[in-house]
Order: sequence, then structure tokens, then C-alpha cells
Amino acid sequence: MADTDNVKEAKNFYPEVPTENKPFFLKGSNALGWGMQNRLSRVFNPRSGRTVMLAIDHGYFMGPTTGLERVDINIVPLLGDCTALMLTRGMLRSTISSSFGGGVVIRASGGPSILKELSNEQIAVGIEDAVRMNVSAMAVQVFIGGEFESQSIHNLTRLVDLGNKYGLPILAVTAVGKDMNRDAKYLRLACRICAELGAHILKTYYVPEGFETVTASCPVPIVMAGGKKLPELDALKMAHDAVDQGACGVDMGRNIFQSDSSSAMIQAVGKVVHEGMKPQQAYQLYQDLKNEQSQVVVDG
Ligand code: 5RP
Repeated sequence: MADTDNVKEAKNFYPEVPTENKPFFLKGSNALGWGMQNRLSRVFNPRSGRTVMLAIDHGYFMGPTTGLERVDINIVPLLGDCTALMLTRGMLRSTISSSFGGGVVIRASGGPSILKELSNEQIAVGIEDAVRMNVSAMAVQVFIGGEFESQSIHNLTRLVDLGNKYGLPILAVTAVGKDMNRDAKYLRLACRICAELGAHILKTYYVPEGFETVTASCPVPIVMAGGKKLPELDALKMAHDAVDQGACGVDMGRNIFQSDSSSAMIQAVGKVVHEGMKPQQAYQLYQDLKNEQSQVVVDG
């Protein structure tokens, strides 16, 4: 029984202090439910409002690509430096510790390999399994203008219905076919279609001309896709310019795990994204960290 002797009587209800009613920190996400917002707070850092999402899902259509031959050796040491991890459920269950505290964005579309028509994807993860893994979001590829455009849009809308039912955000990845112009006009079209159809987050490429029109015309957060490996300074400049022009962070793979020092690179990207560090300074940090690490190897 609760002890009721000597109960302190004084109570303070702070009647003069109105209860705060803060808007949710992410663009376009204010009307979402608590569970959905809580999951988004694992994908994006609520302090900076941005994410460094580490993309390692390439194996779902490319197999063991360069840098991802051994996720246990090459990727696991980087986990403390990313806000969220984007990967397949196979790699999550087999290789990532369930004590990982960052956001998990599960690759939820797939089907064709690099040997076939890539736009011919289907939904590849059931919502119940996503809930079972306690993931923070599900990612689906959308091929606007691609051969299987409608099918990929149907994958998105089906997942959005399920995501809304279970409180799971859906990230739409805008794939750009080889024969398409990767320009602001195309990306505005692709991102806006996905957002209109209910995607909660967009992943799209950076373009030097007019990227701010892509972010401005998309009502939900955009994260910048990394793309093929660039020299580190160029990748840092691209990340800097993308967040400066309205992206809520990056979702980078090869530009991190194919770097000469993936650990130094992810830390430098983190400074750019979360703290607005200038690219040249971040590049200097990358080099310093890389040199420190090689020193440890030599000394050790
Ligand atoms: C395909 C994908 C990826 O598999 C991956 O996330 C790409 O990452 P990056 O281009 O930065 O290596 O989204 O379109």
C-alpha cells in the first residue's frame, strides 16, 4: 500500500505558464501521428533537423559491390557516426547488432538485378516484418519516366497506405534512368509526384543548377543521394550545397564507403550536414583524421 504519511502538500501547477505546443521540427510532417514523428526523429537528428544517412543497400541489385564486400568489417565501425542506416533486411538481421541506436531505413522494393530492367521492381518487404524489426522508415524506388513507372508508383502508394496504417514513414527514392536528363526540371517532377502521392521523405540527386527549386517545390524533407564516387572535396561541396539549398541532409553510400578513409569521410560529412562546416574546412578535417588513423596503424 502506498505510504500516505507525511505526504508533501505543496503543489505547483504553474498556472501562469501556458503549456507549450511546439510544431514538429521537420518540414511537412506536423500533421503526422506520434509514432510516425517518433520514427522520423530517429531518421533525422531533432537538434540539427538533418540526417547523415549511410546507404549500404546496394547489394539488393548489385551484389557485393566495392566497399560492401564485408559489411561487418567495413561498415559496422562507422555506425556511431551516422544518424540512420539504409539497408536491406537481410543485412540488418545478419550483420547489424540489435543494440544499434540510430534510425533504420529498410530497403522495401526490389526484384531485378543489374542484369535486367531495373524499373521492374515489386514491394520486397512486408509491413509486419518491418514492424517486427522496429525499423524507422521503409524505402521504395520510384522510376518516373521509366519502363515500369506505374508499377513503381503503385509500390509507393501501397507502402504509403500501409505506412500510414502502422505509423511507418515511407522514403521514396527517385531513380533516374540512363537515358533521362538529370536536371532540376526532371527532379522537380519526380519529387513532387512522390510527395503528392504520400511519400514522407524523398531521396534525390543534387544538381548544380536549380536544386533550390526542387527542395522548395517538394512539401516534405528531401535528402540528397550520393551517387557515384567523387573526390572527397567534391563530395563534401555537394553535401554542403545541397543542405544550403534546402536538403534536410544526405543519404550517401559510395562517397563514404569507397573513400580512402570511410571513417574520416563520414565524420567530415557529419560536420557539414549537422554543423554547417564549410567544405574546405571539412576536407581538412577529413585529411587530419585520415592521417591520424594511418599513424595509429604505423605505430600500432
Ligand atoms: C539505388 C540506391 C542505392 O542502392 C543506394 O542507396 C545509393 O547510394 P549511393 O548512390 O550514395 O552510393 O538508392 O538508387
